[in-house]
Amino acid sequence: MIEKKVLIDPDTANYAEQFTKPESEICRKVADVTDKELQYADMLSGRIEGRLLAMLVAISGAKRILELGTFTGYSALSMAEALPEDGELITIEMNSRYSEMAERHFALSEHGEKITLKFGLAKEVLPTVKAKFDLIFLDANKDDYPEYYELLLPLLRTGGLLIVDNVLWYGGVLKDVKDRKSESIHQLNRIILSDKRVENVLLPVRDGVQIVRKLSD
Ligand SMILES: C[S@@+](CC[C@H](N)C(=O)[O-])C[C@H]1O[C@@H](n2cnc3c(N)ncnc32)[C@H](O)[C@@H]1O
Repeated sequence: MIEKKVLIDPDTANYAEQFTKPESEICRKVADVTDKELQYADMLSGRIEGRLLAMLVAISGAKRILELGTFTGYSALSMAEALPEDGELITIEMNSRYSEMAERHFALSEHGEKITLKFGLAKEVLPTVKAKFDLIFLDANKDDYPEYYELLLPLLRTGGLLIVDNVLWYGGVLKDVKDRKSESIHQLNRIILSDKRVENVLLPVRDGVQIVRKLSD
């Protein structure tokens, strides 16, 4: 386990939250329930990143979304709320407790019908999903990020967005001697930088968010 460094000055983070429009009541409830019931509630992306995801869905006009790593459903719901009525979101989760909680949360929302949760290991479920997607959110196990990148890029349409969470890994990527997850994430950041098929921006938002746009196959 690496020491979890706070990357954004807490006062700045609070100010940014205060001046960002709040999430929906249901997303707020998902965050509260997760906080009360689960030990690893900090896995949830939260208000700023949730609003960023929703904004990216809206401005890109995405209709088909794929997510790896549902947890309790916060990011899936945030994006589903921004989809048009005929939009769809497939989200993959391997933990039964989390997936059951997420299903309960989706059922509370009028946007839950847009969401299909596929239970299982991402690498086993991915071959069963039908391409192509307009937007993909990668937020599952960090050790496999470089492998996921190569699996996901063919599933993304040209012009589509791949959003990758935790690409700063609480400062772990900055260290000379990196733990396994930091090394894997750093490797992905290097792959993206040199990949001519994409353009990208690495935003120091929360724990680091990569926004990658596919330019060609
Ligand atoms: C950081 S959390 C996702 C948070 C969620 N996207 C949100 O913002 O609310 C990562 C999730 O990925 C799941 N996960 C980890 N490895 C996985 C795998 N190989 N296949 C599917 N899900 C996986 C974990 O169980 C966990 O719920």
